Amino acid sequence: MNEELLPETSGAFAAPPILVTGGAGFIGSNFVLDWLENEAAPVVNLDLLTYSGNLENLASLAQASTPPERYTFVHGDIADTALLTQLFAEHRPRAVVHFAAESHVDRSILGPEAFLRTNIDGTFRLLEAARAHYATLAGTERDAFRFLHVSTDEVYGTLAPTDPPFAETTPYAPNSPYAASKASSDFLVRAWHHTYGLPTLITNCSNNYGPFQFPEKLIPLVLLNALAGKSLPVYGDGQQVRDWLFVRDHCSAIRAVLVGGRLGQTYNIGGNNQRANLDVVKTLCALLDELRPAAQPYAQQIRYVQDRPGHDRRYAIDARKIQAELGWYPVDTFETGLRRTVEWYLANGDWLANITSGAYKRWIEDNYSARAPQSPSSDLRSSDQEESPTFQPVGTAKGLA
Ligand SMILES: NC(=O)c1ccc[n+]([C@@H]2O[C@H](COP(=O)([O-])OP(=O)(O)OC[C@H]3O[C@@H](n4cnc5c(N)ncnc54)[C@H](O)[C@@H]3O)[C@@H](O)[C@H]2O)c1
Repeated sequence: MNEELLPETSGAFAAPPILVTGGAGFIGSNFVLDWLENEAAPVVNLDLLTYSGNLENLASLAQASTPPERYTFVHGDIADTALLTQLFAEHRPRAVVHFAAESHVDRSILGPEAFLRTNIDGTFRLLEAARAHYATLAGTERDAFRFLHVSTDEVYGTLAPTDPPFAETTPYAPNSPYAASKASSDFLVRAWHHTYGLPTLITNCSNNYGPFQFPEKLIPLVLLNALAGKSLPVYGDGQQVRDWLFVRDHCSAIRAVLVGGRLGQTYNIGGNNQRANLDVVKTLCALLDELRPAAQPYAQQIRYVQDRPGHDRRYAIDARKIQAELGWYPVDTFETGLRRTVEWYLANGDWLANITSGAYKRWIEDNYSARAPQSPSSDLRSSDQEESPTFQPVGTAKGLA
């Protein structure tokens, strides 16, 4: 465990925590677990527990008897200024790691307003509260303070097959309401650094996968449907390319940026694992054939459905800056990370069953009922896409052990 991840603070301020927002979501909960395994500073986790926030993701902290001073959960909204003011005054965090967001592209198409509210207004209010807190700091506490904003490669728009990958200098060109809201929040963070001197860092990461991912996203959705004997819907022709990164590698990259990132800078994070969505689905099917064989190969459940409007064709990340400046490299390849992920979902059927609630099923019906199948079910040319493939209402996860 690193005794001091961040620059040292005064002795009277021996154990200031980091404030994590959205720490009950997919990446946030992996980050909280990863942080507490590797770092000394405690965590205060502020999360509104929307449909994608799940305290069960952090149940192992209770089972491991984590001392209460190491981890604090606060149920609340990043757009609640009074709560933020109170939290900063009470905990005096040495850093903010900001994950909280509405995060699903399809949901942003069906209902963009929540994305503007949380991703833009929420980030604005968090920045303002952090700025007020920063103004109270002096000396080493002030030098040590960081505001790290977790963002996405989707702000850069889409790539043609032969285009070079996204670099930190690539102009922003967001195409979905989700990407536009994240791009807006990135610009706010940039401005709060340049205008007010807030010590900010921004990370733009490619598609994550791993344990605790809500099954509206491609990989857990395919696993859930496959095991339930349902169709594996694939958007369009399935040739949308995404650059996949195992979630724990994203977490270690964020820690590296927090320690050594230059203030006001952006760092792209990716694993150089470009895969077409259809290939991802087929690889998942092959892993399931090996680990949980069924009567028929799982690939026979693949179905093509109507594509997402404005669906970006290809994302790819140039991660040379974080590699050269901070020495960060991912540990998992796509093959090892995907196998770990499938094994985790197979071993955690209860987790999946518990989150496939009535509200989730209603959303799935809204999103997929209008998507007519595109071609005969035997046509395997298409695949899913980066977020959700086509989908059938889930029901319970009885197929999961
Ligand atoms: N999933 C990916 O592949 C990916 C890739 C790059 C960047 N990101 C970014 O990483 C962050 C986390 O993504 P994720 O996939 O874990 O998302 P998620 O949807 O799984 O988690 C979001 C979390 O934020 C919480 N939240 C939402 N609104 C809130 C509010 N107003 N106040 C407090 N908490 C709130 C939710 O309850 C949930 O716990 C997001 O900012 C996303 O843009 C995600």
